Amino acid sequence: MRGKWWQEAVIYQIYPRSFCDSNNDGIGDIQGIIAKLDYLKKLGITAIWVCPFYKSPMDDNGYDVSDFFSIAPEYGTMDDVIQLINELHKREMRLIVDTVLNHTSDEHPWFVESKSAIDNPYRDYYIWKEARPDGSLPSNWESFFGGSVWQHDAQTNSYYMHIFSKRMPDLNWSNELMRKDIYQMMEWWLDKGVDGFRIDAVAHLDRNMDFPNHQVPNGRDYSPCYFEYSNRPNVHEYIQEMRNVVLTQYDVMTVGEAGGASIEDSLKYCAYGRNEFNLLINFDHCWVDTDDHSASYVPGKWTYKKLELPLLKKSFAKYQVNMYQKAWNTIYWSNHDQPRVISHYGNDHLQFHNISAKMLATTLYMMGGTPIIFQGEEIGMTNVAYESLEDYRDVEIYTLYKETVQRGLATNEDIMDRIHKRSRDNARTPMQWDHTVNGGFSTVEPWIKTNPNYVNINVLDNLVNENSIFYYYQKLICIRQNSECLLYGDFKLYLEDDENIFMYTRSFKEDRYLVITNFFDKIVDVEIPNEINCENAEVIISNYQLKQLKRSISLLPYEAIVYHF
Ligand code: GLC
Ligand code: CA
Repeated sequence: MRGKWWQEAVIYQIYPRSFCDSNNDGIGDIQGIIAKLDYLKKLGITAIWVCPFYKSPMDDNGYDVSDFFSIAPEYGTMDDVIQLINELHKREMRLIVDTVLNHTSDEHPWFVESKSAIDNPYRDYYIWKEARPDGSLPSNWESFFGGSVWQHDAQTNSYYMHIFSKRMPDLNWSNELMRKDIYQMMEWWLDKGVDGFRIDAVAHLDRNMDFPNHQVPNGRDYSPCYFEYSNRPNVHEYIQEMRNVVLTQYDVMTVGEAGGASIEDSLKYCAYGRNEFNLLINFDHCWVDTDDHSASYVPGKWTYKKLELPLLKKSFAKYQVNMYQKAWNTIYWSNHDQPRVISHYGNDHLQFHNISAKMLATTLYMMGGTPIIFQGEEIGMTNVAYESLEDYRDVEIYTLYKETVQRGLATNEDIMDRIHKRSRDNARTPMQWDHTVNGGFSTVEPWIKTNPNYVNINVLDNLVNENSIFYYYQKLICIRQNSECLLYGDFKLYLEDDENIFMYTRSFKEDRYLVITNFFDKIVDVEIPNEINCENAEVIISNYQLKQLKRSISLLPYEAIVYHF
């Protein structure tokens, strides 16, 4: 239409292990994705981002890559991936692959070489350090998955760095040879026909190589000094080099993952003219309800407090306003690392399930930027609460449990409650296709248990009910894709400090939209600011009966309305 393809794209994120199992071995696969492309097309999706499908021992479900050039056998073959690309392109859809550049698996041949001897040519592909003179670890930094970032290796009696699991050694980006190999790998994938890269954990490529120690909070063993390995200056040099060497030669889009990037950092990663990324994911709004003053025995992500809506609104507004005309926004509620948004910021009880899912969708997808819809969000999939720890699969959960309950710092009940609310497995339960066993994902027991609510929440029911969440998403997508104002207009937040209502406008030339949503389960009276003319407002979409705009209106629980002027 008017902009670049990725500015007008609607991206759907697929976690392949949990999406669709075509051969009934309990694990989702590439043929399963192919089988569902028409479903995605119907929703209005124009591109898919597929989480890693490369060969991997699956310590972190494929984010631990042991061979960049081959496909995990449980997911399929290279021919399947080529077929996926062709089937997508046939439907005028595109493929964004997940590219993991911060680390590899410990089974990657580079690491096997690297650890074998100090003078091995691959030694410096990773980050190795000796113990300190007093015998202590090279630094006291904490890894994202808990424990130290350092792992001892007996072969050369030294430590390698890993900011995620110990089976995911960090690549050394200050090594030019390593960078060259990575760029070649990216070119290889571009030559296969992929249309974009989602670049994993890219904020961490540069670290403070002086490795200073930092203060350790009470009750913890290591210092969660993430700033020592996040959003540091040299990251930008590497990304610009990657762009110059690889990306400029292709019509390819990039979306970087830089958790915790401030607005200033985000602009460095994706402002027009900086030649880094097209889109950026920083999770700012995903973390507005973490409670930094809560129990010190758990890292921030496992803490929570009641949602204060003004914080959520300000988080979105910060990026919507400050990036306008400087960079392109990315809008998403969650992903495979976050709890399900309906359980997090909505209401997943049966009574409000449908209505609050639609409210959340309205709030987000009328904003500016490229949407990324996480699989299952379009039918309102919820968090899961397995009673037994053994039913969980995520490596991160087990370190948390070991470091808290098993050391007597927290009760089983406390930690299970945190896992139910926050764990990444909430997002990874199998996609709920229908009412048959395992939600139609697979006829055999899946690799992770299906959420038992598949009997009420599934694709089949959504497709036969015109009032479903699916059709509401379809309609929202259609509205935004056909409006120059919703694609390119500016954003203005109203009622900033109101604790219940999210209200904003989008404006472009003569066109204007007003979005009003109620985030809670009670009726709220709203006074429309005088600046907004209430006449001639037409309702474009709503999750209740259509309601005329007046100076004072009252919103029902989780009501969402969009007016057009
Ligand atoms: C990213 C991925 C996450 C993974 C981590 C390490 O944050 O989204 O799933 O565990 O990087 O690769
Ligand atoms: Ca399978």
